[in-house]
Amino acid sequence: MLPHDIAIEARAVSKSFQHDVRVLDDVSMTVRRGEMVALIGASGSGKSTLIRTIAGLLPIDGKRKDSLPESGSIHVMGQPIQQNGRLSCSRALRARIGVIFQQFNLVPRVTLLANVCFGLLGSLPVLRGTLGQFSDGDKRKAMLALARVGIAEHALKRANELSGGQQQRAAIARSLVQGAELLIADEPIASLDPASSRRVMDLLADMNRNDGLTVLVSLHQVEYAMKYCSRTIALKAGRVVYDGPSQALTPAFLNQLYGAESEELFLPSFDQPINPDPANAGSHWAEPPAVAVPTHQVAAFPRVQRQAERLRA
Ligand SMILES: Nc1ncnc2c1ncn2[C@@H]1O[C@H](COP(=O)(O)OP(=O)(O)O)[C@@H](O)[C@H]1O
Ligand SMILES: [Mg+2]
Repeated sequence: MLPHDIAIEARAVSKSFQHDVRVLDDVSMTVRRGEMVALIGASGSGKSTLIRTIAGLLPIDGKRKDSLPESGSIHVMGQPIQQNGRLSCSRALRARIGVIFQQFNLVPRVTLLANVCFGLLGSLPVLRGTLGQFSDGDKRKAMLALARVGIAEHALKRANELSGGQQQRAAIARSLVQGAELLIADEPIASLDPASSRRVMDLLADMNRNDGLTVLVSLHQVEYAMKYCSRTIALKAGRVVYDGPSQALTPAFLNQLYGAESEELFLPSFDQPINPDPANAGSHWAEPPAVAVPTHQVAAFPRVQRQAERLRA
């Protein structure tokens, strides 16, 4: 594998919060550019911790005298994110990494459009930002990204007026505007109903296939890993217990890996068609179907164009 083919390279990564309790224990993994890889594991197995260390949000342990011969390191796109217990991530590299969280991480009382524009700043504003600080070009970019994830018509609504699925798609749009080449998503569908979960996963898969984004996504349920990701890395108590084709993750094999914990990793009714529940219509979760539109085709959508024109005016 050539170095420029590698999106994530984690070597001998350990992380302890308290002395001697290793939440990540000598984890090594490589993700090639253009892959879409699932990270699975029961609650507490270390998925969020691993994702935060790869995103450069949490330092890994440095070398200890008594421990591994190698000190841990994480490289993203061939550049160091951290080495030997020190974060060493440039702002430019950070901008190439989009991080998606279970709880969307939008500024709740600000419009979706402004939230997506914040992607251009490389971080959430310290002060509750407004649209005033962004140019028309910025807003147009953000509108295109919102159209790309199928929610352009909600651009001027506040984030907290939207369903969880719509907020998650806005968070993805923010990563697009940021220019992310690698998306690391930490249980992005854990708070969503099955229909919204599929839309978010469809969108990630579509961006992986059509825009060439590398995706690492942690998932609580193995069915989504099997449906969307050809490869899965499985963590158990901070160690990699499996790294290979998702198709191998049969109930029997998962039981072998996880014992009784494996039950937690299955959805009981994933393969059954999801019938809209009339009692749910108009509820917080009801939302129109996502239309994933490649950015270059957005110009073909007159409503989106009109919205962008209005913003320019
Ligand atoms: N900031 C922290 N301080 C102490 N322990 C933590 C901290 N964050 C996570 N842990 C512990 O690390 C382990 C793995 O947590 P986590 O990475 O959140 O797992 P997962 O995302 O797979 O549920 C858990 O035992 C958790 O309690
Ligand atoms: Mg977690």
